[in-house]
Amino acid sequence: MASDSYRAPRGTRDLLPEDLIRIRHLERTARKLAQSFRYGEIRTPLIEETRLFTRSLGEGSDVVEKEMFTVPPRAEGSSSHSLRPEGTASAVRAYIQGGFAARAPLQKWFYLGPMFRYERPQRGRERQFYQFGVEVFGVTSPSLDAEIVDLAMRYFEALGFGLELEVRVNTMGDPEDRACWSSALREYFAPRMEGRCADCQSRLERNVFRLLDCKVADCKEANRDAPSLRDFLQEASAGHHQGFLHSLQALGRAAVDAPSLVRGLDYYTRTVFEVHYPPLGARSALCGGGRYDGLVEELGGAATAATGFAIGLTGTEFAMEELGLPTAEAVADLASELQAAVYVVAISAEDRQEALALAGLLRGAEIGAVDLDHRGRSAKAQFKEADKGGARVVLVVGADERAADTFVLRDMEGGVESKVARADLVEAVGAMLQA
Ligand code: HAM
Repeated sequence: MASDSYRAPRGTRDLLPEDLIRIRHLERTARKLAQSFRYGEIRTPLIEETRLFTRSLGEGSDVVEKEMFTVPPRAEGSSSHSLRPEGTASAVRAYIQGGFAARAPLQKWFYLGPMFRYERPQRGRERQFYQFGVEVFGVTSPSLDAEIVDLAMRYFEALGFGLELEVRVNTMGDPEDRACWSSALREYFAPRMEGRCADCQSRLERNVFRLLDCKVADCKEANRDAPSLRDFLQEASAGHHQGFLHSLQALGRAAVDAPSLVRGLDYYTRTVFEVHYPPLGARSALCGGGRYDGLVEELGGAATAATGFAIGLTGTEFAMEELGLPTAEAVADLASELQAAVYVVAISAEDRQEALALAGLLRGAEIGAVDLDHRGRSAKAQFKEADKGGARVVLVVGADERAADTFVLRDMEGGVESKVARADLVEAVGAMLQA
């Protein structure tokens, strides 16, 4: 390949018609499920002001520190913009901008779409990836946290996942709990920093919680006896966590207690959770979420409770591939959209204009996808093409047919042919397709 040939940027993929069968299946399953829980779809811009993400995800988060696609200000007084690395910050911005707190504080939203993070691409990690997320505003009850876990799990179940999935849960407490915990952590780690990785060294002062989700083996080992937030929970946040666990139980959802689960974004309070598919190894998280009761206020709105999650559709797709999903049956309708229902064959060059006109007639009747040749191929090649494209009916246009204004219809399933007058074509083709 020539070295100057163009390729999709690293960590991005072209999604071609065949790929979109799977992806549209993931999307329509998400829509159907979210709507069955009465969540309404939102679409926010793919770009936002950079400061929206810095403020909400946190200056010290990996996403803000290393992974943003940012366009600097173009002129004095204008602002820097970034491609959205996730959907929560934009949903909160839209909630505040729409003035919902005053007129309709309860909002149940979902979204589907691309997110962008400048990460090192690897299997299941891309720079442009897709999420299905939900965000709910105006509810403080932990039963809602459990409801969204249930929604996420139902999504995976609807896609055909079995028992391998694991829900991991934890609480991040309230800001006051975390302030006490953070002092205790610093006190604990400060004399024990020797041998820890450079990331941990730089985070001790800035964001000590991130030491706890370091993936380096030695650092993980050194975290083992660190103080736990559980010891600093006040009554209200401890009660919330108990309520969450009880609601999960009521829904019949088993969950694994994961005290070291801290998530990589700063906005979480109280409930956090992830759904893992362990066979994927280090990158097993397919879904992450939790409560962010402080974020609406932090971004300038009225204090509003909020909770949500996002499922990574890219990782989900890879996991499904391993499980042999989706089944051909589940996507048969989407696959059939790529096939022609009717193929119009022109026997010779003189028949081509008529073939075009008849294709137009059938297309206008909207009885199914209609295709024909534009490359001057032989009649035999056109028949082959019709067969390859899955056409159910072939309409043949030759000199005799044009003279009689009557055309041959071949039912490709049974091989039966019939002659049909132009005026009856739409009805006859329709009947063959229904048969
Ligand atoms: P997150 O954990 O950063 O949370 O992302 C959610 C999911 O998106 C991850 O579990 C993973 O499956 C997928 N994901 C993240 N980065 C990539 C990537 N580079 N390539 C492929 N998949 C990726 C959030 O985004 C929060 N906004 C979730 C949330 C919503 N919390 C509350 N509401």
